Amino acid sequence: MQPLDTTIPEPALIVLIGAAGSGKSTWASTWPTTQVLELDNFRAMVSDEAGCQEATDDAVFALQAVLEARLARRKMTVLDATNTEAAVRANLIATARRHGVPTVALVISTPASVCVERQADRTPDRAVPEPVVLAQHAAMLDAFSGLPGEGFDHVVIAENIHRLEALLQRVSDARRADLGWDGGEGLGDLLLVRRYFGPEILPMWRWRDTSQLAGGDRVGEIRLGADRLSSPCAPTSTERATSASRS
Ligand code: UTP
Ligand code: MG
Repeated sequence: MQPLDTTIPEPALIVLIGAAGSGKSTWASTWPTTQVLELDNFRAMVSDEAGCQEATDDAVFALQAVLEARLARRKMTVLDATNTEAAVRANLIATARRHGVPTVALVISTPASVCVERQADRTPDRAVPEPVVLAQHAAMLDAFSGLPGEGFDHVVIAENIHRLEALLQRVSDARRADLGWDGGEGLGDLLLVRRYFGPEILPMWRWRDTSQLAGGDRVGEIRLGADRLSSPCAPTSTERATSASRS
């Protein structure tokens, strides 16, 4: 019996292989987002819809360009797509070889019944029909024993690797930085702003300590170009914080 291969070199092209709903994107999320090329994201970028199958050719073209650029720089790259077709995998291996980057097949072998069940929680545009999921699952099983012969340097079963700690470490580092526990400035008062208004508003937000608008009270101000909203709000009052008024 062969010993289990759990080797993931750095850098590598990690090719996820699994049916819809098997958990590919969940595993991919344990690597930094810049390292993950998700076919659904490229579909959304070219068509505004992650599930738009008609956009697949354009999405693959755009993904291939980013893949080449990353591998030319020898950057760790995770390819999040079903990758259950041999021709798709052959192209990925050839691309990585051209750039001298090792390849890892990361097989997500979640049972077919679970992959199918998980489609029920999805919106109709994201749910993959059962026969398609079953065909993808069967293709993954069929491919498994031939993956080393296809040219993958390592074939790793996702169940056998430990990624949870890496994910938690990243989350913890981000939280420490937000709170200023890493010696940096932290977000301070802006933590509350992000919680209620979202991260995209943060760069536009200013606290102003006194304002005639609020009888000398503190206000929050959001600016985008000449457009401006001011809101009388204390940092601890959500209700007042969300009732912004145009000044
Ligand atoms: P994903 O959305 O990660 O699956 O997980 P996927 O393979 O990327 O699916 P497609 O191909 O894009 O359609 C599907 C569901 O399974 C849960 C996730 O939280 C998500 O709701 N999941 C995944 C688990 O419960 N446990 C896991 O270990 C992985
Ligand atoms: Mg996914």
